Amino acid sequence: MKIAILNGSPRKENTAAMVDAFAQGAKEAGHEVEILHVGKMKIAGCLGCEYCHTKGEGKCVQKDDLEKIMPAYLESDMIVYATPIYYFNMTAQLAAAIQRVYCIGKPAKAKKAAMLISSGSPGTGNATIESYKTMIGYIGLEDKGVFCLAGEENKSEEKLAEIRNFAKGL
Ligand SMILES: Cc1cc2nc3c(=O)[nH]c(=O)nc-3n(C[C@H](O)[C@H](O)[C@H](O)COP(=O)(O)O)c2cc1C
Repeated sequence: MKIAILNGSPRKENTAAMVDAFAQGAKEAGHEVEILHVGKMKIAGCLGCEYCHTKGEGKCVQKDDLEKIMPAYLESDMIVYATPIYYFNMTAQLAAAIQRVYCIGKPAKAKKAAMLISSGSPGTGNATIESYKTMIGYIGLEDKGVFCLAGEENKSEEKLAEIRNFAKGL
């Protein structure tokens, strides 16, 4: 299947290590994987102007890097949301990318989802996990797994192997 990973981290560090482990496992299983560096993109928040649902016919009035991730929203079978925790939440970049799917309502083809979270301290990703689960339920995706690493667990070979094996089993 076609898997799109939306990486909300602006850095190539802890979240990126989880993303790379996932991508490696998924590729080994024969899946097509695309990593979208949402954390480094310029994606503004939704204006709520409803242009997309009126004159725009599904197109957003704002012209920015959303155009780079729209193909993934239209064509992928699985979406993986990856993010560091910033003040008990996902990054603003990933939140904007998630909310801007509003112009088409929900990903067109995808039926599956997973989440990769990197945090400094244990338990700080709980609200993000809850939000992810509620959000994917709303857009009709099935959760295949959530990985939330904290502190020393980041970049631990054991934890990254778990993620690689999980992706290999998809
Ligand atoms: C702006 C900012 C806010 C953060 N807020 C939290 C937080 O609320 N809870 C936490 O456990 N870690 C927090 N952290 C730490 C990061 O989640 C952690 O270092 C993570 O591994 C970074 O991932 P990255 O290497 O992909 O950027 C914060 C880091 C930054 C830069």
